[in-house]
Amino acid sequence: MVRVLFVCLGNICRSPLAAGVMRRLVAESALADEVQVESAAIGPWHVGEAPDARAVATGAVRGYVIDGVARQMRPRDFRTFDLVVGMDRRNVDDLLRLAPADEVDKVRQLVDIEVPDPYYGDQADFDAALDIIETGCRALLEELRESVSA
Ligand code: 4NP
Repeated sequence: MVRVLFVCLGNICRSPLAAGVMRRLVAESALADEVQVESAAIGPWHVGEAPDARAVATGAVRGYVIDGVARQMRPRDFRTFDLVVGMDRRNVDDLLRLAPADEVDKVRQLVDIEVPDPYYGDQADFDAALDIIETGCRALLEELRESVSA
């Protein structure tokens, strides 16, 4: 089993989108029983909230189920998960500061370009974020497919 934790600042826009995209890609692949996906926040501001309605709607248009309850990263997440995936450079910098020294190798950015924070943006910003998230999740699925079959 590979456990993947997607992380963004608030856990109400980008990381729930990434989790919803990745869950569907995994479900449609041969890895359905091999990959587990969750999401979490760097910050505490939205803990306990459902994903932002704009993220839910943007995902729904493309057939993704965007759900969950926002929670904040816990130190033990670095032990529980095999990959801790930030959406932008700031997330990654925060994660690297939070991670125990022997777990920093689990931290990475979803794709080499950043997923821009859409929270203060409009529909075009949510669509643009989801475009990058889809690209990143497809690449991650391919990587996991290779590692699981290796
Ligand atoms: P997210 O978006 O990190 O993609 O969930 C944000 C949500 C809330 C805030 C910032 C970003 N905020 O400052 O409250």
